[in-house]
Amino acid sequence: MSRIAYVDGRYLAHRHASVHIEDRGFQFADGIYEVIAVIAGRRFDEPRHLDRLERSLGELDIAMPMSRAALVCVMDEVVRRNRVEDGILYLQVTRGSAPRDHAWREGAEAMVVMTARHQSMPPDHYFENGIAVITAPDQRWRRNDIKSVALLGNVLGKQKARRAGAYETWMVDDQGFVTEGTSTNAWIVIGGRIVTRPLGPEILGGITRAAILDVARELQIGVDERLFSVAEAAAADEAFLTSTTALVLPVTRIDDSTVGSGGCGPVTARILEDYRRVIREFTKS
Ligand code: PDD
Repeated sequence: MSRIAYVDGRYLAHRHASVHIEDRGFQFADGIYEVIAVIAGRRFDEPRHLDRLERSLGELDIAMPMSRAALVCVMDEVVRRNRVEDGILYLQVTRGSAPRDHAWREGAEAMVVMTARHQSMPPDHYFENGIAVITAPDQRWRRNDIKSVALLGNVLGKQKARRAGAYETWMVDDQGFVTEGTSTNAWIVIGGRIVTRPLGPEILGGITRAAILDVARELQIGVDERLFSVAEAAAADEAFLTSTTALVLPVTRIDDSTVGSGGCGPVTARILEDYRRVIREFTKS
C-alpha cells in the first residue's frame, strides 16, 4: 500500500511529497512539530498535543494555520488514508516559503505537513531489562520548551548514543544537572519518590511527562520536580525515561554505572503498568 502525505492543502503520494527549497522550515528551522501516538487507530492524548502545538506556534509568533477542528479533520484523513492502527502521526508547521531573509514577512502563511506511519513499541526486553543512557553536555538553544524543528543538538546527541550502543543521551546543563533526553524526558526514583526536572525553558514539557505525573498522583507516589545531577542519577534507586514513542522505559545504566539492581525497579514497574492501563482504557472508550 502506498503512503500518503498531507502537504500544504494536498494529499500526495509520500514518495513525491516535497516542500519548496525556500520553505523557512528547510532554511531556518523556522517551524514546530508534534508527534502523536496512534493506538488502535485513534490518536492518544490529542488535546494535550494540540495545546502544546498552539503554545509552540504562539511562542514563535506563527498563526495557527487552520482551526483546531480543521486540523483534526486532516489528521483523521491522514491516519485513515495510511491505514495506521498502531504508529505515529507527525505534524509539522513552518512559517511557509519566502525569499531567504532572516526576518520574516509579517502575516506570512504557515505551511502544514502531516504524515502517519506504522511504528512498533520498543521491544519487550527494553521494558523488562531496561536500557542504557549516556550523558553529554546540552548544546541546544535556550528555548527547549518550544517543540521546534531545530533539533541539531538533539540529533548529535542521539547519534552519540547510537554509536555508544546506548538508547539515549541525557543532556547535562552547565551546572551538571540533567536537562532531558534528546527525544525523551528524564526521571529518577529515590526513596520511593520520583524526581524530574521542573518545567522551564531548558526542557520540553512532554505530554507523557504530564500523563506520568497524573499516574503518580493517582498511585500516591510522591513527586519532586527539582534538578538532579548525573552523580545523583547514577546513585538513584531507579531511573526511567518517557516519551510518546517510548512510553516509560527503565534506565538501568547511566554511562558506566548500573542503576539500582540493574533491572526494572518496582516504582518504574508500577508506573508503567498503570500507564498501560490508562492506554488500554483509552482504546476501549
Ligand atoms: N520527542 N523531550 C524532547 C527533547 C522530545 O523531543 C520529546 C518528544 C520529549 C517527550 O515528549 P512527549 O512525551 O510529548 O513525546 C521530551 C518526540 C517523540 C520526537 O521528537 O520524535
